[in-house]
Amino acid sequence: MSLVLKNATVLGKDMSLKKTDIFVEGDRIVDFAMGDEMNLDGMIVMPGLINTHTHAAMTLFRGIAEDVDLNDWLFNYIFPREDKLTEDDVYTGSLAGFMEMVRHGITTFVDMYFHEDAIYQAAKDIGIRGIVARGLADTDGKGERKLHLAEDFAKKHIDDPLVKGGFGPHALYTCSMPYFKDAVDTAKKYSLPLTFHLLESPKERENFKKNGMEAVDFLDSIGAFYERTIIAHGTHLDRKELELISERGSTLSYNPSSNAKLGNGIAPIIQALDLGVNVTFGTDSAASNNALNIFDEMKFGILLQRAKERDPKLIKVEEAIKMATSNAKKALPFDIGSLEAGMLADLIVIDPHDISTIPSDKILSHIVYSFDTPAIKKVMIGGRWIYDEGFITVDEKKVIEDFEKVYTDLNSRI
Ligand code: NI
Repeated sequence: MSLVLKNATVLGKDMSLKKTDIFVEGDRIVDFAMGDEMNLDGMIVMPGLINTHTHAAMTLFRGIAEDVDLNDWLFNYIFPREDKLTEDDVYTGSLAGFMEMVRHGITTFVDMYFHEDAIYQAAKDIGIRGIVARGLADTDGKGERKLHLAEDFAKKHIDDPLVKGGFGPHALYTCSMPYFKDAVDTAKKYSLPLTFHLLESPKERENFKKNGMEAVDFLDSIGAFYERTIIAHGTHLDRKELELISERGSTLSYNPSSNAKLGNGIAPIIQALDLGVNVTFGTDSAASNNALNIFDEMKFGILLQRAKERDPKLIKVEEAIKMATSNAKKALPFDIGSLEAGMLADLIVIDPHDISTIPSDKILSHIVYSFDTPAIKKVMIGGRWIYDEGFITVDEKKVIEDFEKVYTDLNSRI
């Protein structure tokens, strides 16, 4: 398919706004193409947002456990429910999660969960790009089988341009040390993303020290920080550890809402940026956020850092937008995050005359600080329109009906 998006005001990689045409051929942006024309005069086109840490199916757990700490939340509310989840449940929960992300302008996700075939199918059905990193843990004695399944899944979809596999050793408190190393080695064998929760809550550092070393030192000793590594949270990383992560070229997923809601603290993002760490944004799950909206994370994440440091000059809007778009490319096997020839055509069309985006000549500031979802008019992923003032690829009403049925049925089994 060839398409010309005419007269769009495009947000460039250098964060300038220029009126230009965008040529799309197949799933990519090209220098020139002839084809159907769409006039986007007066509209802003920017790269789709990238959510580098989520568990999409957990929309099924939204609101079920408020006002508890991570340990209580995980072991008393989440794990008992996850035990009961079927493939079909995960499909419906993931589809609802992906729809919410698309509606908020997210075009690529990094998901960590199980029933990977169901997540894959949900992503393909709506048409969102992403990494399905199989969640891995061996505390139940079934670790080897899970890693085997993850490897099979990764191999099967290695050439899929839209959805690929990844490896998600859940955390150091749910994976034994040898098992974690096996997961790292397998991810590297395929050059696929490796993602794990690290020092999310204040207690994790001390708990791991019982093994006679620091968590980060252990992970570095098994080569866990490589260029496709996405560290989720890192709330309690210290300066020396951030320096190491910067040196290794790994990516940090900053999840401010989840960290704040579970009372885990504020990640050292200013220090991380100063030390050259590649920082991106993640929502984490709808059970700990509770929304799947990177615009929210940008605003809240920056305000938290400014409040903590008592400095209104920290993280300019241009930098925040890069953290939400182009920075993630470094860790992901997709040409995404900026709108230029050769890149995948993953973009969102914004109306700068929405009530949340006026005056319309200050749009970069609004994207970070005042943006509301109705300003997003269209979402394209891989040259295909997914959303045009409503979902194109899925029936929203039916998914919501299915979701409510699955949710009620799941509750009756717990
Ligand atoms: Ni998480």
